[in-house]
Amino acid sequence: MLPMDPTKKISFQRLISEGDLVIVYERHDHMKAVKVCCGSVLQNRFGVFQHTDWIGKPFGSKVLSNKGGFVYLLAPTPELWTLVLSHRTQILYIVDISFVISYLEIVPGCLILESGTGSGSLTTSLARAVAPYGHVYTFDFHEQRAALAREDFEKTGLSSLITVEVRDIQGGGFPENFCGLADSVFLDLPQPWLAIPSAGKMLKQDGVLCSFSPCIEQVQRSCESLRTNFTDIRTFEVLLRSYEVQEGRRECTGDDEGDPLGSLPCKRKQCSSGRSNGKEKSDVHTVMVRPCSEARGHTGYLTFARLKCL
Ligand SMILES: C[S@@+](CC[C@H](N)C(=O)[O-])C[C@H]1O[C@@H](n2cnc3c(N)ncnc32)[C@H](O)[C@@H]1O
Repeated sequence: MLPMDPTKKISFQRLISEGDLVIVYERHDHMKAVKVCCGSVLQNRFGVFQHTDWIGKPFGSKVLSNKGGFVYLLAPTPELWTLVLSHRTQILYIVDISFVISYLEIVPGCLILESGTGSGSLTTSLARAVAPYGHVYTFDFHEQRAALAREDFEKTGLSSLITVEVRDIQGGGFPENFCGLADSVFLDLPQPWLAIPSAGKMLKQDGVLCSFSPCIEQVQRSCESLRTNFTDIRTFEVLLRSYEVQEGRRECTGDDEGDPLGSLPCKRKQCSSGRSNGKEKSDVHTVMVRPCSEARGHTGYLTFARLKCL
């Protein structure tokens, strides 16, 4: 569980104990969430790991299997949770999440309204951003999804910062008791324009709304609705480009014309040399970097708007 001190401050500066949720890290693209239980084992290609051996170790520890293989036990931060959670719906990923938290100006103590909850990916990061004194009220009309999200927030130790309610936000709007109290509102709904008038009523003066939509037609209709009570309306698409790094060795004859690495001496390290066909030959250490072939493409559009001053 995400540990909380009495002031609800999230901290991992402690040792792993029975019942904690840890992220078992094999590599950056192979992780899973495991609840630590005395007497249980984790079995994978590296061997058998006894949970009992994990108890009392700091988060981040490297632990060994019966065969000498190893994994790392990482703390269940929102960033990692987003990568391992069960996908019951489409979810927001960390690139969009970071942008949302910045542009919604979310700081500790904020009161946030969100709909729909979905798999709770965004909610988890919102909760950490408002901790220790703020709160996230999240609404989904799907009862089972809401219940599973509640269970997840218990597991990740964030339940005191999040309230999940079952409600049709497009049909009924947000509950009236939040009128004028929300610092920000986030919508990830199929027809956000239906919820925008209610979202406007919930926001404090100067409050900011964000709506996430995969299709540009949804953005257009949302913007039409936003024009009534909102200003500073802007839509963004955030794309992440990551890079693969490959290290290797190759033979080089000194004819570097046309060789992209030839003009980059800082990228290579000469290790040995000799002669071939009368030419100087060297074995070089190369580092090649290229954009990942499996880069995530379009996720959705993020539309932000600020409530007009009265
Ligand atoms: C794409 S998911 C949200 C994913 C979430 N942002 C995340 O990061 O995990 C959209 C959710 O909106 C909910 N939803 C759809 N229409 C709704 C409505 N009228 N009122 C409340 N929730 C609704 C769906 O049940 C679904 O769980």
